[in-house]
Amino acid sequence: MILALETSCDDTCAAVVDGAGIVRSNVISSQAVHDAYGGVVPEIASRQHLQLMNLVVDDALAQAGVGLDDLEAVAVTRGPGLTGALLVGLATAKAIAIARGLPLIPVDHLQGHVAANFLGPDALEPPFVCLVASGGHSFVARVDDHTSFTVLGRTLDDAAGEALDKGARLLGLPFPGGPHVERLAAAGDPAAFAFPVARGVPGLDMSFAGLKTSLLYTVRDLDRDAASGGAAARGADLAASYQHAVVDQLARRTERALEQTGLDRLAIGGGVAANGPLRERLSRAASVVHIPGRALCTDNAAMIGGAARHLPAADPADVPGLDVYATDRRAR
Ligand code: KG4
Ligand code: ZN
Repeated sequence: MILALETSCDDTCAAVVDGAGIVRSNVISSQAVHDAYGGVVPEIASRQHLQLMNLVVDDALAQAGVGLDDLEAVAVTRGPGLTGALLVGLATAKAIAIARGLPLIPVDHLQGHVAANFLGPDALEPPFVCLVASGGHSFVARVDDHTSFTVLGRTLDDAAGEALDKGARLLGLPFPGGPHVERLAAAGDPAAFAFPVARGVPGLDMSFAGLKTSLLYTVRDLDRDAASGGAAARGADLAASYQHAVVDQLARRTERALEQTGLDRLAIGGGVAANGPLRERLSRAASVVHIPGRALCTDNAAMIGGAARHLPAADPADVPGLDVYATDRRAR
């Protein structure tokens, strides 16, 4: 029975995962306080985590129907993410682990997104290709075991979620933009506007920065052209075409990775993997496709517990001095 904590960005998360990889509880407290700023303010995120962390842990234990005495290990995200935010989760995990004499298992956030696929009665066993697309990272990887992954291609600039968030802002939609773009796009035509899809980016790498610039110019041109009714009148078509460009690039790179590796098994993860059109498109990309529930794609602690089941605990002598890390060395 593992208690897992995740505080790498603006969601305060705690979960209980059992020895069979079944999620007993998965509590996510999203910090709405950032909406007013159009993005996550790191210092505010840290302070909110401090206020919410103990309540979220209590809630996760209560929902799982377990007490501290039932726990066998504590798992926590160590990085990458916002330093101050990560520190709240790590300090909490250390306190519980040291006070209760439990092993502490540090987990990499990106390994967590991959490990969302190791949870539940229908867990996917390696080897498989995994697409991870979130607000901070976008990459396609080869997963050969439960403890690591090999990046085959990654974004050269913005992450897919970042592109959706920035595009949403240009369309006057709230933060985080991905779900709002998806909702508005449902009533639009994905072929209404042709946005560039990273032509010239070699191999399995991706690029999303040009897309955002292209949307910026399209919105500006529509607003200048009085006869068009302005960009607002074309909101649904713009959202649908923009979303299509993001989904198409992610799907093409994933399909190419499947071809190149010869693997016919696919998994996805990260917040953008909650996107309906992406899930739909990739559901047909391989013979075996594993798509975690939406709550296991966006940031959550159950995925950290899912990864921890397969990872070593830190040496108890190292636990008090264990530090967080902000950036990833493998996948931007
Ligand atoms: O994995 P995540 O929760 O946090 C990070 O590790 O970054 O991903 C957040 C990203 C945001 O950019 C958000 O706009 C995007 O995931 N996202 C979506 C959807 N839900 C969240 N993008 C497209 N469609 C969605 N339904
Ligand atoms: Zn994430």
